[in-house]
Order: sequence, then C-alpha cells, then structure tokens
Amino acid sequence: MEKNTSSSSSAAHVLIIPFPAQGHVTPMLSLAKLLSFSGVFTTFVNTESIHRRLSVSSDLTDRRRLRFRAVPDPLTGGADEELDFSSKFIKLQESMRSCSTEAYKKLLLTEELAGEWPPVTCVIADGILDYAIEVAGEVGIPTLVFRTSSPCCAWAFASLPSLIHHGIIPFPAECDMDEIVKGVEGMEGILRRRDLPSFMRMVKSTEDNYIKLMNGFNSKLIIGKAIIFNSFDALDPTILPIMSSYYPPIFTIGPLHLLTKFFNISNEKEQEQEPGKNPCSSSLRQEDRACMTWLDNQPDKSVIYVSFGTVTVMSPEKFIEFWYGLVNSGHRFLWAVREDMVKGKQEMEVTKEMEEGTKERGCMVEWVPQKEVLAHRAVGCFLTHSGWNSTIEGMVAGVPMICWPDLVDQMVNSRFVSDVWRIGLDMKDTCDRNIVERMVREVMEGEIALELRSSAARMADLARKSVEENGTSRVNFDSLVSYIKSIEL
Ligand code: UDX
Repeated sequence: MEKNTSSSSSAAHVLIIPFPAQGHVTPMLSLAKLLSFSGVFTTFVNTESIHRRLSVSSDLTDRRRLRFRAVPDPLTGGADEELDFSSKFIKLQESMRSCSTEAYKKLLLTEELAGEWPPVTCVIADGILDYAIEVAGEVGIPTLVFRTSSPCCAWAFASLPSLIHHGIIPFPAECDMDEIVKGVEGMEGILRRRDLPSFMRMVKSTEDNYIKLMNGFNSKLIIGKAIIFNSFDALDPTILPIMSSYYPPIFTIGPLHLLTKFFNISNEKEQEQEPGKNPCSSSLRQEDRACMTWLDNQPDKSVIYVSFGTVTVMSPEKFIEFWYGLVNSGHRFLWAVREDMVKGKQEMEVTKEMEEGTKERGCMVEWVPQKEVLAHRAVGCFLTHSGWNSTIEGMVAGVPMICWPDLVDQMVNSRFVSDVWRIGLDMKDTCDRNIVERMVREVMEGEIALELRSSAARMADLARKSVEENGTSRVNFDSLVSYIKSIEL
C-alpha cells in the first residue's frame, strides 16, 4: 500500500539510529520498514557488529527505499567489571561518541552519490543514544526521539525532580519498600517504592551518576521535535494526556510488530524463505526452531514460556529457584536460557529431580523466535523479566504473565501488568521456588487463571484494534508519516 508520494514528499529521507542492543534494534527496525513502505527514504544505522549479526540472521539487503549503513563499534572491555551500571553506561556513551561521531556525521551530511537518494531531512534517534541526538542538533537536522520503554516508565523517570522534592529519592535507610509513593502525577496510588525504575533505588546522593543518567534521559525528551513510543493509547489513558502537556508531540504507534503485519510487510520475503530460517527476523542471535516442533506436540495453553530477555544476568542460586519452581509446579515449560545468562553456572548443581522433571515436561534452548512462541496455541503463561518489547509482545498474544523484573524500566512495567492492566502477577524482589510454583499454579489453574486469561484476551483485542484502519496507532502512524514528509530543511 503506497502512501501519498507527491514530488515534495518523495524527498523525505529519515535516518534511524538505535542504541546497539536487541531491545532497541527490534522496534526501530519495524518502524524503518513501515516508513520506507510508506514512501519515506529510510537509512537504518547500526554499529558494525550489530550490522553484521543482523545481516547474517536476517539476510537484509538494501531495498528500494530502505538501506542499511554502519558506524564503528564503541570500545568495550578493560577494567569495566569493577564499575557499577551507571559508570559503565556513561563510559559506553562516551566511547560511542568518540568512535562513531565522524562516520555518523558523514551519513547525515553526505548526499548519496549513486542514485536517487535525497539528503537526510530528519533523524529518528534512540532516546538514550546521547551523541546521535546531539550531533544531529549540531548539524541542524531535525530530530525525533524514539523511546523504546513504555510511556509509564518514561513518565516515572521524568518525575525524578518531583520524587526528590517529596523526599522519596534518595531512599531513606530502612525505608518501607511497599509504601505508595507521592510525586508521580497521574500514578497516584499505583507505584510503591519498589516499583520505581531500578536506577532510583541505586541513588545515594542527589549528585551521583544515576541522577546524571536519569537527567540525561529526561532532557532528551524535550530536545526533539516529537517523541515516538512503541505503545498504544488505550494502555495509558491518564498519563499520555499529562505527558502531552509537558512535551513535544507524542506519537504512540505500537504495537509496531502488529502494525507491520497489518501493512502486510512482516513476511515480505516469505517465498524465498529457507527451511528453518526466518529472513525478516530482527533477531541478533540464532533462533532455535526445534522448540516450535516441541510446542506443536503439547496440549493447548499448557506451557509456561520463560525468558528473561537480553540483558538480565542471574546467579546460579536464583536460576535454581526458578528451575525448581517450574519443575515442582508440575506444568510444562519452554525456557530460553541465553548462554551468558547465568553467571558462574559451572558451579551449579543440577539434581536428578530437576533433570527428570525437565526431561518429562520441559524444553530448554538458548534463543527462541519469541513472537511466534507467544502466538503458539500451546502457550498459556509467560514468565518474563518485563522488558517493554516482551511485555507488549505478550499483550498482543493475549498470554497472562508472571513478572520477575530485574532492571530499569522493568520495575514499572511489571506493576502496571499486575495492578493497572491486570493481566499478570508480579513477583518482583523475591526469588523463591515456592513463590514461583504458587504463581505458576495461579496463572495456569483455577479462578485467578480464568480472570487473567479473559483480561489478557481483552488486552490483545485492544492492541489489535489500535492498529486496524482508524485505530489510534494506525492514525498516529499516518500523522507521523505526514509530519516527516512535511519537514523541510
Ligand atoms: C531492555 C529493557 O528492559 C526494555 O524495556 C528496553 O526498551 C530495551 O532493553 P531487554 O532485556 O532487551 O530489555 O528485553 P525486551 O525489551 O523484552 O526485548 C527482548 C527482545 O528479544 C524481545 O523482542 C523478544 O522477542 C526477543 N527475544 C528474547 C527473542 O526473540 N528470543 C528470545 O529467546 C528472547
């Protein structure tokens, strides 16, 4: 479906640049496909190592209005092990700035010599990629900011000054983590201390690196011409209007992977598909498709799909608690265990009980085609770390969740899943086999299971409606395209 491509609009050329990580590349690549499909020239920029991994797994080549370019990787390694998360993150940002700025600037300013590509007319930059936003501003190219987290989490971050003002941050010694906090407009009565983004619990003084980091995220929201979220309006009817009164225009255009389906572009190369390979996947790792055959052999809604995303690292002790909880629940499970997910796993003692329970009812692989797994009829529950992509993918599939958030935004997402959207249970800050077993039973059996299933099904329906003709995300996406086409340098 080609959108309006009049002579002025055909000159629109957007450069999209994600933070180099799976959870950022995936939604921003969906947006790149959608924009190029809607008549906007689109350059998608990765770091070299991500570019290589994406090309291998997705066989992506330049298309008529979508092309892929790479900038040098940041330097990593050294004595980073000793540093806390905020210092590592700040170091990474500095390294990206020094390694990638020159190549990025060239992409922004150089007109393509070979052919019809017009100059870049606007940038869509990841909201946590500082140098990308700053450099585009320096060379005078209008920038839109894409936040890969949920609006509710972005808003919790943005409330930092108010939370400091109310004495919530820094957390007082021995504070009550279950106390409901004041200071987040529109979320009165919802967030407890433990539900605030994890950076907030790390703050020791108002001068420390975590404060700098959060201020950095917040300032990027007001620098751009607009903000884009992979979310849909029905999720945040209270917060979005409040945010809109403080910020540049907000475009909620998600769930993006569902929107690509409605535009019929998620499987554009289906006919050329090699067996066992999904050429349009944005996956940076090799997907193990044997798990799909395993799922095919399980009864409807009988399997707990378990994944802790791309960043979470846990101790062998925690891993064992989850493992026991799953085995003891007596339910079937499919677990995506990244090879780098358990730190010190060589010391882990695997008991006969765990082995046998897994052989009978489990399947463990390193990396699965998650959206397909969630959509499979055999999956009845998603035990997740509550990353935003996973959360929204679970919603689209209508699968109730058990949340074990680990980092940053995941704390807020899991609270909303359990207490606002009511499509799951939140086990944050606990890691105990008995709790895992109990929650699995609650989500899979009895009264609570029925309630969660029906609200998850309602949520999936809302998600679908948002991307249909005249749905809010569909309308917002069309406005975004018109807005991008109207930008003139
Ligand atoms: C982090 C943040 O928590 C998230 O909110 C932020 O926006 C991006 O970074 P991450 O650990 O990457 O999250 O999780 P998530 O956002 O859920 O993204 C993980 C992605 O990997 C999902 O799209 C999921 O489908 C995919 N995945 C995961 C697979 O394809 N296969 C797997 O086996 C596991």
